Amino acid sequence: MTYHLEDLFGVKGRAVIVTGGSSGLGAEIASALTDLGAQVAIIGRTKEKCDRVLAALREKNPSCLGFHLDITDEKAMEEAFAAVYKSFGRIDGLVNSAGICQIEDLENFEMKDFTRIIDVNLLGTVISCKLAGKYMLAAGCGSIVNISSQSTRVGKPGYTAYAASKAAVDGFTRALATEWIRKGVKVNSISPGLFVTDINRKEIEANPEIFRQRVADIPRGKAGEPPLLVAPVVALLTPGTDHMVGQTLAVDGGTSAGIMKVMALPKKTHRVPE
Ligand SMILES: NC(=O)c1ccc[n+]([C@@H]2O[C@H](COP(=O)([O-])OP(=O)(O)OC[C@H]3O[C@@H](n4cnc5c(N)ncnc54)[C@H](OP(=O)(O)O)[C@@H]3O)[C@@H](O)[C@H]2O)c1
Repeated sequence: MTYHLEDLFGVKGRAVIVTGGSSGLGAEIASALTDLGAQVAIIGRTKEKCDRVLAALREKNPSCLGFHLDITDEKAMEEAFAAVYKSFGRIDGLVNSAGICQIEDLENFEMKDFTRIIDVNLLGTVISCKLAGKYMLAAGCGSIVNISSQSTRVGKPGYTAYAASKAAVDGFTRALATEWIRKGVKVNSISPGLFVTDINRKEIEANPEIFRQRVADIPRGKAGEPPLLVAPVVALLTPGTDHMVGQTLAVDGGTSAGIMKVMALPKKTHRVPE
């Protein structure tokens, strides 16, 4: 295999759609991809947030695109993907970062709220992948990164809907990866740990002590800074990771690797007798 490093690890000239690109992790990813020379289209729900992020992207690359729509609206999504393809002439990458969370004990969960979380986090991702696939499969190449969550591995009270939706994203990712890899399309997911963004800011501000304890449990000792999600996402978008297929990459400061609290014995019991 001969290669140029820039092609193997770069995204220059690639066309990438970032759902949830109007806020938090998605906005950080969209900004970095633009800096790296990709043509970027963001999709978000709120017009003002979309417009604000798009304006910043266009200062770096005037060809960037933005769409405010609901990712569960298949027709609106279809039109947005078609517009991206028309404008960029290709769709090489897709990052599914759009997502919502509602913390509620199951006995109090309204089924319409539970369903909405599944609709946005799972079905929105499914719709997005299906539409990207239309262009990527025809081209015989492409890479998709779905953002799931550490909640798929670590149970937390109140997170039943969110955890179920994100675990389904990981399962969907694995199945789709096997379905499409021989047709040239790579699919992986990333499961972030705790990052402070709009999705959790209010809860964090309302519960500073619990936040402090959560952070103390992270082996790295701090919540993730949004720029630290960029490199793993960009890596999965590049050909340099083409042998990574259907994987879920934990970006969580070590939370999935281990815990920090240990039950140590008194030191003297460890001493070797003289
Ligand atoms: N932050 C964390 O600690 C953390 C941890 C694990 C996983 N994640 C996941 O990471 C992803 C990004 O979250 P974030 O932290 O960046 O949160 P965020 O700042 O709230 O961003 C979420 C994005 O998704 C968009 N969105 C939500 N529902 C949508 C819909 N129905 N249609 C279109 N766009 C929609 C939002 O648009 P509007 O703002 O206009 O609603 C926003 O752009 C999510 O999938 C989240 O579950 C986050």
